[in-house]
Amino acid sequence: MRQGDYTILENSRIASRIWRMTLSGDTEGILRGGQFVDVEVDGCFLRRPFAVTDWTKDTLSLIYKVVGQGTEIMSQWREGSSVNLLTGLGNGFDTSLCRKKALVVCGGIGASPAFHLVKELIEEGKEVTVVLGYNNASELILFDEYRKLGAGVRVATMDGSVGIKGLVTDVIDTLDGGYDFFYTCGPKVMMEAVCRKLDISGQVSLEERMGCGCGICFGCTCHTADGPKRVCFDGPVFKKEDVIW
Ligand SMILES: Cc1cc2nc3c(=O)[nH]c(=O)nc-3n(C[C@H](O)[C@H](O)[C@H](O)COP(=O)(O)OP(=O)(O)OC[C@H]3O[C@@H](n4cnc5c(N)ncnc54)[C@H](O)[C@@H]3O)c2cc1C
Ligand code: FES
Repeated sequence: MRQGDYTILENSRIASRIWRMTLSGDTEGILRGGQFVDVEVDGCFLRRPFAVTDWTKDTLSLIYKVVGQGTEIMSQWREGSSVNLLTGLGNGFDTSLCRKKALVVCGGIGASPAFHLVKELIEEGKEVTVVLGYNNASELILFDEYRKLGAGVRVATMDGSVGIKGLVTDVIDTLDGGYDFFYTCGPKVMMEAVCRKLDISGQVSLEERMGCGCGICFGCTCHTADGPKRVCFDGPVFKKEDVIW
């Protein structure tokens, strides 16, 4: 874990209630897609955790949904402002678990934590299908970016305004198969349905409300088949077989 001040290069709305923030600063502690940062927000006692969407040697980007006090304040931050971050938190996804062909299933803002994972899988020469699920077209994020990486991208929306009308599990029914591993990130109910549907192994990115964000307070403990685990420190990524829904 590292702590440092970062400068905001961009903070703009990219979809309904969804913003992308790009910051410059030290990214050496960020090693894998699915890891997160903890953002200090003036006026909020606790830092707020966000997955790192993508990073370079001196910039990183976050995509966040405005849901409450902290994210509302963040959405008002301007370019050039300084933000304090804890970086390099969490374990991240493990690309070595996929041999050749990966299925990546994301719901809503869950498209963000999986972005660098897909980049890594494709750089390793693996074939990737990304299934994105949203309520409607106004929430669509990262569709073009995933395609530019070289992934096959399929979309489901609840109202049918983009892609097929229905759930990500409806899209999975239409796929050819042949996947040897899956990764999923999004609402818990969606991830549970995906895990139950797919008979291959996979990894799941869990979310819990967090206190310290770095393993000290045990405020984010969840129960797994392997005993109690801290989502911030032992996760947020867990094997499908270990998750107790
Ligand atoms: C490891 C991790 C990675 C995350 N990555 C992202 C991300 O990439 N993009 C993103 O938009 N959000 C992400 N989140 C969720 C994000 O941290 C919360 O939405 C944010 O902290 C809310 O802050 P707030 O002050 O605006 O809301 P608050 O005022 O604190 O809460 C508003 C509402 O959001 C709910 N909420 C707050 N935090 C969480 C949480 N952790 N899990 C479930 N519900 C919560 C509250 O119950 C409440 O209903 C992540 C959370 C974790 C634990
Ligand atoms: S938030 Fe403190 S241990 Fe996870």
